[in-house]
Amino acid sequence: PAATILAGKKVLVTAGGTREPIDPVRYIGNRSSGKMGYALAVKAAQMAAKVVLIAGPTSLPDPPGVCVKKVETAAQMRQAVLAEYDDSDLVIKAAAVADYRPQLASPQKIKKSEEQLTLTLEKNPDILRELGAKKTHQFLVGFAAETENLLEYATEKLQKKNLDMLVANDVTLPGAGFNADTNIVKLLYRDGHREELPQMTKIELAEKILAKICEHISK
Ligand code: PMT
Repeated sequence: PAATILAGKKVLVTAGGTREPIDPVRYIGNRSSGKMGYALAVKAAQMAAKVVLIAGPTSLPDPPGVCVKKVETAAQMRQAVLAEYDDSDLVIKAAAVADYRPQLASPQKIKKSEEQLTLTLEKNPDILRELGAKKTHQFLVGFAAETENLLEYATEKLQKKNLDMLVANDVTLPGAGFNADTNIVKLLYRDGHREELPQMTKIELAEKILAKICEHISK
């Protein structure tokens, strides 16, 4: 049955948000709690997969039976993900990676002086796009968190990043997205097929996403 397909397979999951340092006491971050990615790691481990979870800072406990690697910045997440990628069978990128980082992290705490302070940001590498470009046998799943034009932007990400499946999140809906215990998503596949899922807990959604992935892998 489809459910046993992940047994013994290496599943790489990313979760949580990255933090990009401004100075030793401040950072640029986002509202990801890690709940979605952790739920995926928990459920994949219950399906007997070998799970590696690469996580930004969260308050969640390490899931049992999962190898957890904690990182802070997008650059660290990239290093950790690339180190685990080649022999992974399934990769699910639920993390909210910062698109930009302060160009210079001040070595000392920035003192309060002028009325305005300007930070110059530079672009972070797009980890998922890099994975898509060097994909061999991996089944690659991305998330998209959008506040407008959900299907248009999600379709663009699916194609540009060479994904097999994309979980599209309208993060403006109540009961969906960052920090909520539930989520509301649409699943998009490489072949153009789409599915709309009702609101459910992130644990239930993780189970659903993994079941859908198993169906597709077994085809
Ligand atoms: O953690 P929770 O509080 O449970 O919230 C869950 C969630 C809202 C964070 C999750 O469901 C979600 O939507 N995660 C993706 C958030 C995001 O950053 O989306 P994006 O559209 O900016 O990025 C698209 C994809 O590219 C994502 O898979 C992301 O991991 C990846 N990416 C983005 C930027 C970057 N520099 N490198 C990446 O790999």
